[in-house]
Amino acid sequence: MMMHKRSVFIVGGGGMVGATAAHALAIKEVVSNVVLIDVAEDLVRGQAMDINHATAYTHGVHVHVGDYSDMQDGDIVVITCGVPQKDAQSRLELIETNAGVIRSVIGNIKKQGKEVFIVMVSNPVDVLTYVALKESGLPKSHVFGTGTMLDTARLRVTLANKLNVSQRHVDGYILGEHGDSSFPALSQVRIGGLPLADFPGYTANATAHIADDIRKAAYEIIEAKKATYYGIGNVVTQVVEALQRDAASILSVCSLAEGEYGLRDVVVGLPTLVSSEGVRILDNYPLDDAEQQQLQKSAAVIREVIDQLNT
Ligand SMILES: NC(=O)c1ccc[n+]([C@@H]2O[C@H](COP(=O)([O-])OP(=O)(O)OC[C@H]3O[C@@H](n4cnc5c(N)ncnc54)[C@H](O)[C@@H]3O)[C@@H](O)[C@H]2O)c1
Repeated sequence: MMMHKRSVFIVGGGGMVGATAAHALAIKEVVSNVVLIDVAEDLVRGQAMDINHATAYTHGVHVHVGDYSDMQDGDIVVITCGVPQKDAQSRLELIETNAGVIRSVIGNIKKQGKEVFIVMVSNPVDVLTYVALKESGLPKSHVFGTGTMLDTARLRVTLANKLNVSQRHVDGYILGEHGDSSFPALSQVRIGGLPLADFPGYTANATAHIADDIRKAAYEIIEAKKATYYGIGNVVTQVVEALQRDAASILSVCSLAEGEYGLRDVVVGLPTLVSSEGVRILDNYPLDDAEQQQLQKSAAVIREVIDQLNT
């Protein structure tokens, strides 16, 4: 009997984030089968053809348009679909519209009756992950979002550039909401094992405004080119890689907190073990008092939107 090879489905695969994630997964050969689903049929067909041509020197990676009915147990479904803000639409109206889109996508996944992993990318990612989890009926280990991974990626690159050290040696996280209330857990940042303050060349100036600088950088990219997608495309490859391994990676994804850090019934970005078993929040990450407070505040911002949505 032929074994089913794990596939990654990208719902919203015709869009910038979905297509960039598909391209990154394909050329890094993270999986051999990438399936794009999108309501924009011409766009998604063109993206699949174009990305497929980028696989010329891989060992047999295939990128194609597909359908929900192709899903099998164990597959990974990355959700990047969304509708852009209309003029005069409030932030909450936009969230309600996108929550409706996500509910219909999850309905389509649910109909297949397969135990898949769902990785939310669409914004607001924390709120939409909550909606997806409640709607899917899947275990909480199987439904999570990219959380503050992109923010964390920006932290790694920013600190590496400031300290003139390789990004791979920067260990630390931005946590909380993927949004304005996120915060860097600087008390725990290590550079090659050294506490930040002990790293040669470090001055308090290097981190004085780092959270604001990183937020501003995101707005600046959007102002300059309307969307961001390369950073998040790479984040998706990190998550998919982690889901394929027995040994856990620790990533700042967002998933349902039920008591961890005193948080209940809210989805928020926290250091999390991600492996072939799915996700489990790392409960004993040592935040200092100020960071604990920032986490509580940030989670409250997310919870307020969830309450407004009436899910
Ligand atoms: N979590 C993060 O860190 C992060 C980073 C960047 C962008 N994003 C989010 O990713 C999302 C996508 O951004 P983008 O720039 O790719 O937008 P985009 O408009 O280029 O792509 C969205 C795609 O979704 C498709 N779509 C809409 N409704 C659909 C449905 N019901 N089923 C299938 N496909 C559907 C559209 O046809 C479109 O191709 C946005 O919500 C954005 O805010 C998240």
